Amino acid sequence: MILDELKKNYIPRHVAVIMDGNGRWAELHGNDRIFGHTQGVDAVRSVVEGAGESGVEYLTLYAFSTENWDRPKDEVNALMSLLVHAIVQETDNLNEKNVKMLAIGNLASLPPDVQLKLSEAVQSTSSNTGLNLILALSYSGRWEILEAVKKIVCKAKNGEVSENQINENMFASHLSTVGIPDPELLIRTSGEYRISNFLLWQIAYSEFYFTPILWPDFRKENLFEAIGDFQRRERRFGKTSEQIRS
Ligand code: IPE
Ligand code: IPE
Ligand code: MG
Repeated sequence: MILDELKKNYIPRHVAVIMDGNGRWAELHGNDRIFGHTQGVDAVRSVVEGAGESGVEYLTLYAFSTENWDRPKDEVNALMSLLVHAIVQETDNLNEKNVKMLAIGNLASLPPDVQLKLSEAVQSTSSNTGLNLILALSYSGRWEILEAVKKIVCKAKNGEVSENQINENMFASHLSTVGIPDPELLIRTSGEYRISNFLLWQIAYSEFYFTPILWPDFRKENLFEAIGDFQRRERRFGKTSEQIRS
């Protein structure tokens, strides 16, 4: 699908992507899993570009989950060094495209060099005003929700909040996505139909789009296809179709 076919006035503000299938892509091409991850960087570049071009304001990419720490040590190490390389290599490109980079997740659990390069890239792109690119790293939805609960309990203990002040907005303001609208569209590649602990709170009313395409093969045209699909849906938020149309 091409960009011109999309309704310009109905672009999702926030698209979240579970980038899955690097390992299977590599296997299909007779290579090791790490090679699949390396090839995944081209897909990221294309999708970041496409998101910016289509007017998406926030793009959240699930790059490494809390559970991914349990993969073989070699793969984890390779993913971490790939992350450092990709971040360093792409920062100029992000600045050229006016992309602001942010990161969510248990960043303190990342190796020191990843933390350093990440914060340098976040700093370097901080005044950009285009697409917000949010990398979810060492992230899981349950981890994030528990972190929010801990912060709120702490405030309650100090007498800073009372029970009747705890509502959805207040709770959401303690999540790592504070200030970011919930994703209207969640994409998962590689033909898997699950959430794998991604943005559990934020996807309460997201539209899901599943595609068999393996992440290294995904390009901006596929993103436009997903947005086109989103645009053909009726979002009812519990109401009736009649209510929505009137
Ligand atoms: C997604 O691809 C990348 C990460 C989870 C880091 P996978 O590595 O999960 O690829 P498959 O699912 O094994 O094919
Ligand atoms: C989800 O993919 C995590 C990321 C894409 C970073 P996984 O490949 O880790 O998910 P499962 O384990 O198959 O559910
Ligand atoms: Mg996978």
